[in-house]
Amino acid sequence: MRINLAILVSGRGSNMEAILRAISDGRISDVEPRVVISNRPNVRALDVARSYGITTVVIDDHGKKGRDWEYDKMLVECLYAYDVKPDNGLVCLAGFMRILSSEFVNLYRLRIMNIHPSLLPAFPGLNAQRQALEYGVKITGCTVHFIDEGVDTGPIILQRAVEVRDDDTVDTLASRILEKEHEIYPLAIRLFAQGMLKVEGRRVIITG
Ligand code: GRF
Repeated sequence: MRINLAILVSGRGSNMEAILRAISDGRISDVEPRVVISNRPNVRALDVARSYGITTVVIDDHGKKGRDWEYDKMLVECLYAYDVKPDNGLVCLAGFMRILSSEFVNLYRLRIMNIHPSLLPAFPGLNAQRQALEYGVKITGCTVHFIDEGVDTGPIILQRAVEVRDDDTVDTLASRILEKEHEIYPLAIRLFAQGMLKVEGRRVIITG
């Protein structure tokens, strides 16, 4: 089945770029990137998306955060305008710094993915790499998960582990985690598009 993809961003866009590259070089098929939406104007992700020929839309939240169905309705309107709908679409959050309302989550249930730079359920929320370093774990990593009503709590699709080194800084650790993020996010999308993700309660089973 062909999937219409929207990617929601707020900043650098390296995960978005990894996804677009995987689509353009054929590692992911049957997925059509329809639109990249940012809640912030003038971010790098928008330039990168345009360089891939993808339509970009800014829905500026003027720094106002928090779950907000009024804001999310504008997202839904835009998604519908680009034919990314609950029956044919996938919405990928890639460094999108907003928490979605329960109305939005409900509408696109099990069709919204996120990438998080820790092995969830450890270190949810902001600055996950710093949290891991300060806690002193020896292994951290990254997680692709479906979005549910909580923050970083939805069913886990894929994870990759990354060793924490004694001489790591937040930056060196974050950059090794990022390499793994760029591997597993496109892979999760490919599995979704191939209909290979079966959700049983909290568990995501990879079929086939
Ligand atoms: C990544 O570390 C991702 O895991 C987190 O936000 C960061 C976004 O980076 N959710 P980028 O915009 O994809 O480069």
